[in-house]
Amino acid sequence: MSRNKALRLERVKQLPNVFDHASAPQGRWAEKVFDNTHPLVLEIGCGRGEYSVALAAQFPEKNFVGLDVKPLRIGQGATRAVEMNLRNVVFLQADARSLPRFFAPNEVSEIWLPFPDPQPDDEANRLISPPFLDLYAKVLQQGGRLHLKTDNELLFRYGYNLLKKHPGWKITLAVSDIQRLPPTHPVRKIRTYYEEKFAPAGIPIFYLAAVI
Ligand SMILES: C[S@@+](CC[C@H](N)C(=O)[O-])C[C@H]1O[C@@H](n2cnc3c(N)ncnc32)[C@H](O)[C@@H]1O
Repeated sequence: MSRNKALRLERVKQLPNVFDHASAPQGRWAEKVFDNTHPLVLEIGCGRGEYSVALAAQFPEKNFVGLDVKPLRIGQGATRAVEMNLRNVVFLQADARSLPRFFAPNEVSEIWLPFPDPQPDDEANRLISPPFLDLYAKVLQQGGRLHLKTDNELLFRYGYNLLKKHPGWKITLAVSDIQRLPPTHPVRKIRTYYEEKFAPAGIPIFYLAAVI
């Protein structure tokens, strides 16, 4: 690892709003991290955490945790949250497979999945797949919501068909182009790094929401 990268990683570790396996609580984030009783929203595969930061600014009455395996990415979101003085958003560097280690059953009210890697040949690593849906169901409260946003039509169709048949889930909204949603809807208002960088103008972006 270059010295520069080591320094950047060290800086991320020093941020007051970044947790990892060693420092994260095992459940009761509202009480232990945010010192309130507000609902908890997760962004999984958050990258630079655009959803966590923007939603935290918009919804001060909710708590947000952005989770990603890549520390330098979440460091960018965490730095932005510090600059914006947002107290209701933190980041967790961890693998989503460890969700039940960090979050208690029924602890989470919503999960956002913005632009997960499609992993066409590797279902086991696809953040929307039967094992991951079961993990999400473990931590989501009854009536809890999952949001999937993607530019990948195959992934969208896969997720849609999976949620239709996977026990417990009910799709509440599915659109093949987010332009059909009101301009104020978060999936239109908030654009991620991936979305800005790779989705060329005019390519439709798919979105679905489902409840458990
Ligand atoms: C295509 S990127 C999208 C990042 C961001 N949501 C965006 O739209 O810019 C997918 C992200 O998912 C993260 N990721 C993939 N598998 C993961 C896992 N099992 N646990 C946590 N993060 C994961 C990757 O590190 C990466 O940052």
